[in-house]
Amino acid sequence: MDERIDGVLYSQKQIAEKVTELAEQIEKDYRHLEDILVVGVLKGANIFMSDLIREIKLSLSIDFIAVSSYGTSTESSGVVRILKDLDVDIEGKHVLIVEDIVDTGLTLQYLTDILKRRKAASLKICTLLDKPSRRKCDLSIDYVGYEIPDRFIVGYGIDYAEKYRNLPYIATIEE
Ligand code: IMP
Ligand code: MG
Repeated sequence: MDERIDGVLYSQKQIAEKVTELAEQIEKDYRHLEDILVVGVLKGANIFMSDLIREIKLSLSIDFIAVSSYGTSTESSGVVRILKDLDVDIEGKHVLIVEDIVDTGLTLQYLTDILKRRKAASLKICTLLDKPSRRKCDLSIDYVGYEIPDRFIVGYGIDYAEKYRNLPYIATIEE
């Protein structure tokens, strides 16, 4: 283990159980719907989304969007830029945005504002982790894996300076 990792917050097994739980809820809520599009927010949501969609036993499509929300530090600047837009038109589709972690909420607020203008049939948000104490806007999240305290975490797709995404568990690091 890296010397900066100071504790495992959720093990691989705990994450797998949580992913199954979220997938079951989503499957139940979306079972009568057609044209389901799951949108992953790159890069962090990649691993979570890959595991999640394989447990949702419904017909669906996927796409990805990449945004930059942070400058150089670990603080959200509030300025969000689209680095890679969706490939598909979302009009009339039931869009489920999948995110790794919601912090200030500014990234998702901006993203949902943009996507709402594209006339999706519905728009919901699923995040594995949420830090509600850090919120700087009014954002409603439909599916939350774990609410966590204000600690900087890494692993399971989530990075610190582009590292640690490949850890199979979620850990806290020394800041
Ligand atoms: P927000 O706009 O402040 O909600 O920022 C959300 C994004 O910030 C997430 O998608 C992550 O990329 C990043 N982020 C927030 N908290 C953490 C953390 O504890 N570790 C790593 N990245 C984080
Ligand atoms: Mg992210």
